[in-house]
Amino acid sequence: MELSKLVQSIGESPTLAVSALAARMRSEGIDVVGFGAGEPDFDTPQHIIDAASEALNNGHTKYPKPSSGLPVLKEAIKNKLKRENNLSYETNQITVTVGGKMACNLLIKTLINPGDEVIIPTPYWVSYPEFVRLAGGKPVFIQGTEDNGFCVTPEQIRAVMTDRTRVLLLNYPSNPGGHMYSPERVRAIADALVGTNITVIADEIYDRLVLDGTEFLSFAAVSDDACQRTITVNSASKTYSMTGWRIGFVAGNSDVVKGVAKLDSQGSSGAATFSQVAYAAALDGDQSCVETMRAAFVERAARMHQLLNDIPGVRCPKSAGAFYAFPNVGGTFKRLNVSGSAEFTEKLLSEANVAVVPGIAFGMDEHVRFSFATSMDNIEKGLERMRTWIEKH
Ligand SMILES: Cc1ncc(COP(=O)(O)O)c(C=O)c1O
Repeated sequence: MELSKLVQSIGESPTLAVSALAARMRSEGIDVVGFGAGEPDFDTPQHIIDAASEALNNGHTKYPKPSSGLPVLKEAIKNKLKRENNLSYETNQITVTVGGKMACNLLIKTLINPGDEVIIPTPYWVSYPEFVRLAGGKPVFIQGTEDNGFCVTPEQIRAVMTDRTRVLLLNYPSNPGGHMYSPERVRAIADALVGTNITVIADEIYDRLVLDGTEFLSFAAVSDDACQRTITVNSASKTYSMTGWRIGFVAGNSDVVKGVAKLDSQGSSGAATFSQVAYAAALDGDQSCVETMRAAFVERAARMHQLLNDIPGVRCPKSAGAFYAFPNVGGTFKRLNVSGSAEFTEKLLSEANVAVVPGIAFGMDEHVRFSFATSMDNIEKGLERMRTWIEKH
């Protein structure tokens, strides 16, 4: 049967594809060390699971009402934004979504018309350009360089602004770069936008996973101007190890979040009711689980940094946030006889049974992404395999 041009025009998520391939190899009995998954390797904390079971036992099994999010969750989100991000929003400025991914997707559909331009710093999260294309927009990429810690500058943003520019997508801590924007950098970008009508989508889903002590400054918290132009995205997935619960939100201008809710009312009808109760419990409950997970990521980031930089032809900055390392492996291409990150990744998986995601998926072909949401043992084993594999060539 013939598929629509729309479906044919987009690629499948390469990160999910790597995880699926590694899972298949494992089911065939192959001992694969997987660095593909963008999800914490911890169980969802027990008090959150308990809140969900209680919700199910108490009849939270029907459509969520309203579809834009249960009042109990909107209240918890409002309090989280105030407490952790210094942002004051009313409940009518919040819409609950089926994860942060759906939040970004619907926001772009809400904000842009065909032909509008969306500025995307590279390396970028794989789905951003596809969301823009799905909405008929034009992704405009600006390159974060290694010597600037993958961050983009206000000058780079100014240089690509046109009268079609509608949105700037910002994500820090970053997937895949593992980099952070310092408050100074955040403020400088906010300054560059003053006087424009550019909306910022601030994807802050790793806000609680800063690993290097840099202060996290929410984009909307910079100034009144930044607050007016910013829609903040967040979700339960990374902070509370709740990737399978599919729950997130958008917060900001009430017309925009209402637009997201309207689209979603004709899409998902809202996020699963018991997931909403569980997310509220996560946000309102004991936060020590977040610190436990973050502390593990800090240790792993240090070990990854050390082991990766010990491999000939590989160089990697230390991850400042999230749970990703994004090394430049271009120095190995000649000896491995590969032409880019996709070929590197395929060979690494088939010859050394180590799964990573090719940097080309994030807009940079000399890099690969390692998720260190995996045990220290796996980190040691996987990087030893990669080192031996490269040295053998
Ligand atoms: C930068 C970024 N934004 C959004 C998402 C979406 O996460 P979820 O839909 O699980 O909330 C991810 C997941 O990997 C991500 O890395």
